[in-house]
Amino acid sequence: MNIAGSTALVTGASRGLGRHFAQQLAARGATVYAAARNPDAVDLPGVIPLALDVTDPDSVAAAAQTAQDVSLLINNAGSNTRSALTSGAMADIRLEMDTHFFGTLAVSRAFAPHLAAAGGGAILNVLSVLSWYTTPNSAYCAAKSAEWSLTNALRLELAEQKTLVSALHVGYMDTDMTASIDAPKSDPAEVAATALDGVEAGRVEILADDLSHTVQAGLAGGVTALYPQFA
Ligand SMILES: NC(=O)c1ccc[n+]([C@@H]2O[C@H](COP(=O)([O-])OP(=O)(O)OC[C@H]3O[C@@H](n4cnc5c(N)ncnc54)[C@H](OP(=O)(O)O)[C@@H]3O)[C@@H](O)[C@H]2O)c1
Repeated sequence: MNIAGSTALVTGASRGLGRHFAQQLAARGATVYAAARNPDAVDLPGVIPLALDVTDPDSVAAAAQTAQDVSLLINNAGSNTRSALTSGAMADIRLEMDTHFFGTLAVSRAFAPHLAAAGGGAILNVLSVLSWYTTPNSAYCAAKSAEWSLTNALRLELAEQKTLVSALHVGYMDTDMTASIDAPKSDPAEVAATALDGVEAGRVEILADDLSHTVQAGLAGGVTALYPQFA
């Protein structure tokens, strides 16, 4: 996938990782729709702000009507209510699924015909190491797991139209989402660069940090490898 000359759309481009994606895509020569719930919050020069709430079907349809020339879709928008599945508010748990799973699904379905018209194009879904490992922040983890399964389904189902579907897995990044967490964090600018390099190389899976490699390897050991307290 050549980014130079492509037309990219990034969801959640108002801040955090999405803002880095939009900035770096423009620097690599793409035309960029910087999609945000509030397009006035997009402060980058040289990009096209576009209103898009991934949980609102009318908003998704309107964005797809406007941005018909998209050849690279980056599903980056994300929420994190830090809710546990057994004790959190059901509204928060639904918000996680609505954003990460149903939102990514709705946007991918809306833009898939445009990608096909562009010769296939690519989708990059921003997943997490928490697609593979559950913490007390379990509503988010469940939503990221569901989004991982969705990503695999999109890859299978859009192969016929030659769409590259790529998954980005990463642990903590230094963004608003983790502002209250005291732990080592990756630089989101570096993560965005690694992910865009992966898309340009045609990779279906991009692991942006050591933790993602460690946890992925742990999956082969079954439940007790990742959760030794149950051994
Ligand atoms: N930070 C981490 O440690 C980490 C680790 C692994 C994966 N991730 C994933 O990386 C992605 C980016 O997260 P981040 O760290 O950059 O978080 P962030 O700084 O909190 O930014 C989240 C972005 O998503 C947007 N957003 C939220 N709900 C939306 C909706 N319904 N429709 C459209 N946009 C929406 C926000 O828009 P507003 O400005 O309108 O709120 C904001 O632009 C997410 O998918 C997240 O799950 C993050």
